[in-house]
Amino acid sequence: MRVSWRDVDDASTAGPAGNRAVVRLGPTGEDPLSSDRGVKSTTPKPLAVAGRVLVACERSGKVRDAFSALGFDAVSCDLEETATPGPHLRCDIRDVDRSGWDMVIAFPPCTFLTAAGAWRWPYTTRERNEAVRLVQYLWDWPVDRLAIENPQGWLNSHWRKPDGRFEPYWFGDAYTKRSYLWLRQLPPLMPTLLVPPAASWTEDQRHNKDRSGARSLTFGGVAHAMALQWGPLL
Ligand SMILES: C[S@@+](CC[C@H](N)C(=O)[O-])C[C@H]1O[C@@H](n2cnc3c(N)ncnc32)[C@H](O)[C@@H]1O
Repeated sequence: MRVSWRDVDDASTAGPAGNRAVVRLGPTGEDPLSSDRGVKSTTPKPLAVAGRVLVACERSGKVRDAFSALGFDAVSCDLEETATPGPHLRCDIRDVDRSGWDMVIAFPPCTFLTAAGAWRWPYTTRERNEAVRLVQYLWDWPVDRLAIENPQGWLNSHWRKPDGRFEPYWFGDAYTKRSYLWLRQLPPLMPTLLVPPAASWTEDQRHNKDRSGARSLTFGGVAHAMALQWGPLL
């Protein structure tokens, strides 16, 4: 079954993946699935929706919430439950209806793509091909504005040159963690709050039990930069 923006689960009421927990209002303000047609919903209708943003492969909710704070209809999607309550589709991104979005920002898994794990590449061809297929699926998304984020690694050396890069310390978080961006009709991110980097985020998380999870989380400053610099383009 395909999942669309109408099927967004709010994490506070989320059921198993694919459950229809919260249904957004249709363009007329009516609940399109209600059997009680004609009865006005009490849910307030937004005056205007700035645009519909899908944040693919995001469980932190950081980018979703940064866009939501600016009035965008932003939804995250991940195989995992969202770490912060908010509009979230818990499912495989390939099960999401590709129509109806104005911008897609994707953070596909980098375990088998990152240069940090390049020593494993000769032994992980199957996993890497799978990871590349997901990136290609995201890149082929029929949407005007698209961003894919990943660290330096297989994608820039074997797929395409990146269109931009950024570091957390460009946006107020005093860490280095270079990330690359592959962009369609979006400009590279510009630094807005440069601070001296105090440490490498990857090194800093070396003793964290959930280090792969922690390493891949998007920094708040980066999330706000995406919303502030890309949101107005919609
Ligand atoms: C590199 S992490 C990105 C984390 C993100 N930066 C954040 O702040 O939550 C990749 C994420 O992709 C999710 N993921 C992997 N395969 C997926 C798929 N097919 N559909 C949706 N999410 C997927 C994983 O569960 C993981 O949370």
